[in-house]
Amino acid sequence: MCGIVGYTGKKQATPILLDGLGRLEYRGYDSSGVAVASGDEIQIVKAKGRLFELEKLTEGVNPAGTTGIGHTRWATHGGPSDENAHPHFSRDKSFAVVHNGIIENYLELRAFLSERGFTFRSETDTELISLLLEYYYGGDMLDTIIKVRNKIKGSYALGILHAGDGDTFYALRKDSPLVLGVGDDENFIASDIPAVLPYTRKFIIPDEKEIAVLTPNGITVFNTNKEKIEKTPIVSDLSAADAEKDGYPHFMLKEIFEQPGAVKKTVHDRITPDGIRLDRIKLNGKDFRKICVAACGSAYHAGVVGKYFIEKFARIEVETDLASEFRYRNPILGSDCLTVIISQSGETADSLAALREAKRHGSRVLAIVNVVDSSIAREADDVLYTRAGPEIAVATTKGYTTQVATLCLLGLKFAHDCGTISHDEYLSLTRELKAVPDLLGKYIDEVNGKAQYLAGKYYPASDAYFIGRGYDWAAALEGALKLKEISYIHAEAYAAGELKHGTISLIEKNSLVIGIAAEPELREKTLSNIKEVRSRGAAVIGVTDAPQTIAAECDDILELPETNSAFSPLFTAAALQLFAYYVAAARGGDIDKPRNLAKSVTVE
Ligand code: AGP
Repeated sequence: MCGIVGYTGKKQATPILLDGLGRLEYRGYDSSGVAVASGDEIQIVKAKGRLFELEKLTEGVNPAGTTGIGHTRWATHGGPSDENAHPHFSRDKSFAVVHNGIIENYLELRAFLSERGFTFRSETDTELISLLLEYYYGGDMLDTIIKVRNKIKGSYALGILHAGDGDTFYALRKDSPLVLGVGDDENFIASDIPAVLPYTRKFIIPDEKEIAVLTPNGITVFNTNKEKIEKTPIVSDLSAADAEKDGYPHFMLKEIFEQPGAVKKTVHDRITPDGIRLDRIKLNGKDFRKICVAACGSAYHAGVVGKYFIEKFARIEVETDLASEFRYRNPILGSDCLTVIISQSGETADSLAALREAKRHGSRVLAIVNVVDSSIAREADDVLYTRAGPEIAVATTKGYTTQVATLCLLGLKFAHDCGTISHDEYLSLTRELKAVPDLLGKYIDEVNGKAQYLAGKYYPASDAYFIGRGYDWAAALEGALKLKEISYIHAEAYAAGELKHGTISLIEKNSLVIGIAAEPELREKTLSNIKEVRSRGAAVIGVTDAPQTIAAECDDILELPETNSAFSPLFTAAALQLFAYYVAAARGGDIDKPRNLAKSVTVE
């Protein structure tokens, strides 16, 4: 997704903007640019390609000035090009705009402006915003921005420069993320907190459609009636180091190894001697006939693990939906249903829309998110933060495992509420969950070398099939996504019992199959499926805590630790994350920023 930064203060803006854009690269982009106020003019420098193209053009602090906005663009309207890169000028160059989101009434606005004599330098929706600012400007910036805001439909996080306004610039958001950084005699805007962490840890999170006016001396926020509103800054508990690689070659590997600590933060102070305490949340499993989970990508895969876990222990029906489907299928929901929206970023457009659809149906909404005060966190009835810390790599790792751990907490709490497990079982399971982080830490260290060895053996594969049953199938979904999104190997997950209904026709000599067999009750069945693919020439990596049961039918084994199978997806995830990472490294992929992908998909 696009990334936005903005600065006003005493220092030259361009170096700060470039530094901030560098911390937003993980969001995915294909062009970038900066706009800086210089006296009564605005200067823009922008370029297609990676950030270093822009850095070459801005060497020697060009453009000069102490107030500016910057942008990394992930193309939606119009392909990657210098002209389509942001920032965008108005016709008279009195305004410059950067934008993250999609203006849905783009064609209507283009016609509106054409009829009034405007022409267009680019194919983008963003340029229309800049032209509208010029069209409506009558001397008062707040009035102008309100008129434009009322004219556009869709999602936006905007940074706006107006020539002649000196060290003042403007920002507002709707459906797209934006934070306001509060510094000493300097202030910032950014798409997320890590982008400006080296400069400040104090942030204001503007509400939808509120207009922020930033000068070096302060930030003033106005509501939709032009009334000033008081905003109390939050102090982020992230450090600048959190947004660095700390010696790892990639953020992804760092974040894989951060998982034990992240899972520990997720579960530890929520498991008390009296049982599980979900922060100040008062949800009781007895209040809900059904749980609906709606999420995207890995968050959806965590939801599938959660389904198996909650249904097994709490015996509450759990439906899992891709948020992009849930939002349009008019789900059967009511006040007796709990909707769980899972999202690492808390900004995924489809998941935010699913949240709103669930509330429209009267369902209570619990958000399981990582980014504090994100849009989904703010609109949910209850929030359980996963506390994973900033996740920079596009391919989620600790974001996913902390989501699974949080769902385990929820499932055990609800099981206790409903009396579907004995008190002893409840205490035993919570003790086992509390022990997971330390076991996971040992395990990651142990399996790292084997995963790297197997990646060296199998990285040339062109296709990979991840199979399993029950939890293992849910884990297979995530294993396949991890491999395909960073190595570009075509990888799919299949319920092991489903293979013979069609997909097995694809299995041929040396097809790579990862057979996950951690569920004891289903291991024999999965072994039969492994035999089926092996007899057709497949190369099989078995993933199991009982290698002796399947090793004879596997070419290689990734051994899991002996744990309660209910928690096995956490360990399977770590093993397959490392396998995917080393395969991608062997294939020379851009591991932290895979092609075409964005860290947070804030457009539908
Ligand atoms: C996972 O590795 C991907 N980056 C992607 O599937 C991601 O999980 C999905 O886009 C959902 O993102 P969210 O958790 O921030 O909502």
